[in-house]
Amino acid sequence: MRLRNKPGSLDYLKNNKDYFLPSEKIIEKNYFNKNFNEKPLYLEIGTGKGNFIIKHAIEEKNKNFLALEKYSTVLMIAIKKLEKLENKLSNIKLICEDARDLSLIFEDNSLDGIYINFPDPWPKSGHKKRRLMHNSFLKQYHSLLKKGAFIEFKSDQKHLYDFWFEEIESMSSFYKVVGKSEDLHSEEKVKFTTEYEKKFTSLGNPIYFLKLEVLK
Ligand SMILES: C[S@@+](CC[C@H](N)C(=O)[O-])C[C@H]1O[C@@H](n2cnc3c(N)ncnc32)[C@H](O)[C@@H]1O
Repeated sequence: MRLRNKPGSLDYLKNNKDYFLPSEKIIEKNYFNKNFNEKPLYLEIGTGKGNFIIKHAIEEKNKNFLALEKYSTVLMIAIKKLEKLENKLSNIKLICEDARDLSLIFEDNSLDGIYINFPDPWPKSGHKKRRLMHNSFLKQYHSLLKKGAFIEFKSDQKHLYDFWFEEIESMSSFYKVVGKSEDLHSEEKVKFTTEYEKKFTSLGNPIYFLKLEVLK
C-alpha cells in the first residue's frame, strides 16, 4: 500500500525553515500578506509534487505562491525539488493541511487567485461533497478571494468539468466564466504544466480547463 504520510516525512518538512510553513505559523491569520510583503498572493490546492507552482515561483518573482497539500509524503518531494534549486526562492511556501477549512488559514479577501489542478475525481455520486469544486468549497473560495481574482481548474475528467458548470450555475452572482476549453493543449501552448497534466497529455487525453472571475 502507498503510504500517504510516510513516517518521517512531516519531520523532514518541518526541518526546512525556508519553504515549509508549519501549522503554528499559519493559524496566525493573514500571515502571508504580513510576511510576504505586498505582492499578489496565489494558492494552489492539492499541489502534489509541486511542478506547477514551483515553475510559477521561478518565473514570476513579482508574485507570491502557496502550495497546499494534505499528504506529507508528496509534499516532501516538492520541498526536495526546491532544495535542489541553485537560487533560493523567497516567493513560495508549502503548507501541509487539508483544504476543508481554509478560513482557518486565510483572511477574507486575501487571495488573488486559486489554482486547482487535477483534483481527486471522487466519481461516486455519494462523494460529490468531497470534490474541491463542490458548491460548499466554491462559497469558501469566494470569501477568501478578492474582487476580480480568479479560480483556474484543470482536469482530464469530463464528469468533473460538467460538474463545475452545474455547481456555478447557482452562483452567477459570485463568479463569471472567463475561459473554458475541452481540449486545452490542442488550443494553446501551456506554459505551466503539472505532473498529472504531463502524464495525461502524453497519453493523448484531452485536458479540460475552466477559469472563473470573482464578482462581489
Ligand atoms: C490527482 S493529484 C494531482 C496533483 C497535482 N495537482 C498534479 O496536477 O499533478 C491530487 C492531489 O490533491 C491532493 N488533495 C486532494 N484533496 C485535498 C484536500 N482536501 N486538501 C489538500 N490536498 C488535497 C491529493 O493529496 C493529491 O496530491
